[in-house]
Amino acid sequence: MIYLTRRERFSSAHRMFRQGLSDEENMKIYGKCSNPQWHGHNYVLKVTVKGEVDTVTGYFMNATRLRDILQEKVIVKLDHKNMNLETDFMAGKVATTENLAMAIWQELEDALAKEGAILHCVRVEETENNYVEYYG
Ligand code: NI
Repeated sequence: MIYLTRRERFSSAHRMFRQGLSDEENMKIYGKCSNPQWHGHNYVLKVTVKGEVDTVTGYFMNATRLRDILQEKVIVKLDHKNMNLETDFMAGKVATTENLAMAIWQELEDALAKEGAILHCVRVEETENNYVEYYG
């Protein structure tokens, strides 16, 4: 089994808040990421897939194909968008890095399986200092 990781970057606006709570209550829970006027991050996404190397091709998945799937399923829906308002797979979810990583997993799992790749890890870095990893 070998692991292949592709890095993508995207810039998105978001706001972390729970419906039904006041702005003050949300600020208490989520801090400045709950600014009602939105704000953005330059996110880094690292997706790791695994598979058995094909003895003929020397790989199990073409890295360009992996890039294309990430772009089509995830990046175009997030980059230069407001993920709360514009990203279908984040609709109705609190826009935390945790929820984002789990939603990205859902978006990718089947598409990657069709290519013979097993999704291993979705890592979302919101800042240089904070990241989450989801293993399904
Ligand atoms: Ni934020």
